[in-house]
Amino acid sequence: MSSADPVLAVEQVSVRFGGVQALDAVTLSAEPGRVTGLIGPNGAGKTTMFNVITGLEAPGSGRVSIGGRDVSGLSAHKRARLGLARTFQRLEIFGSMTARQNVLAAAEFRNGWARDRTDAGAAADAILDRVGLSAVAGARADALPTGLARLVELGRALATQPSLLLLDEPGSGLDSTETEALGDLLLDLAADGMAVLLVEHDVELVMRICDTVHVLDFGRRIASGSPAEVQADPAVQAAYLGAEAGAA
Ligand SMILES: Nc1ncnc2c1ncn2[C@@H]1O[C@H](COP(=O)(O)OP(=O)(O)OP(=O)(O)O)[C@@H](O)[C@H]1O
Ligand SMILES: [Mg+2]
Repeated sequence: MSSADPVLAVEQVSVRFGGVQALDAVTLSAEPGRVTGLIGPNGAGKTTMFNVITGLEAPGSGRVSIGGRDVSGLSAHKRARLGLARTFQRLEIFGSMTARQNVLAAAEFRNGWARDRTDAGAAADAILDRVGLSAVAGARADALPTGLARLVELGRALATQPSLLLLDEPGSGLDSTETEALGDLLLDLAADGMAVLLVEHDVELVMRICDTVHVLDFGRRIASGSPAEVQADPAVQAAYLGAEAGAA
């Protein structure tokens, strides 16, 4: 599938917040059947890139295409209809609803526009099973430990049946067993043909499941390639060492 057309094409996107160049002419893509990594030190611009792709932030310049269509003028809602779904770095779920109700609401939301009227309840149950939440389906989302709550959010994203899934640090708050299961699930979703764009600080997870990794630093794309290539890249090593030195 190396010649698959990108589901997502980001071209020369720039975003400026006052004196901060959050993104500086960044180009990247994500292909169906692949997990693509987007990594970089804190403040590199990863979440800003997700906000631009999903339509929450308008870029100062540049272009975003989803499924070959320029989505510049489209709202976040319209982009969702094109098959885009995301999860948030700061978990966003309905705390007072159960895990199942969270997923069901998204399945019903999808039925609001999809032509193939799937049974939302059956779809929700299948997704709960797939992400490993069947046992806690009836539990209130805000009573779940972080790891499981993150899976609720992932389940909700999946309930819209996306072709392009953006995940902003889905591994944070997960223990090592949960992280491994998450990695397997993302590989599974890609094997089904989904394009997954993964922002993640867990380098081990990124190295295990990503086909291609894009690296941002201070809003610029400093490297792109296989996990092994970017890991060996001196500019990438310098960016992470710089970040550690700054944090120390
Ligand atoms: N709404 C905003 N207003 C002003 N500055 C912002 C805004 N959002 C982000 N920034 C700044 O833009 C830069 C990129 O932030 P962003 O959140 O995209 O980084 P990130 O790579 O997601 O970082 P992290 O790994 O910490 O989540 C940072 O300097 C941040 O402070
Ligand atoms: Mg972020």
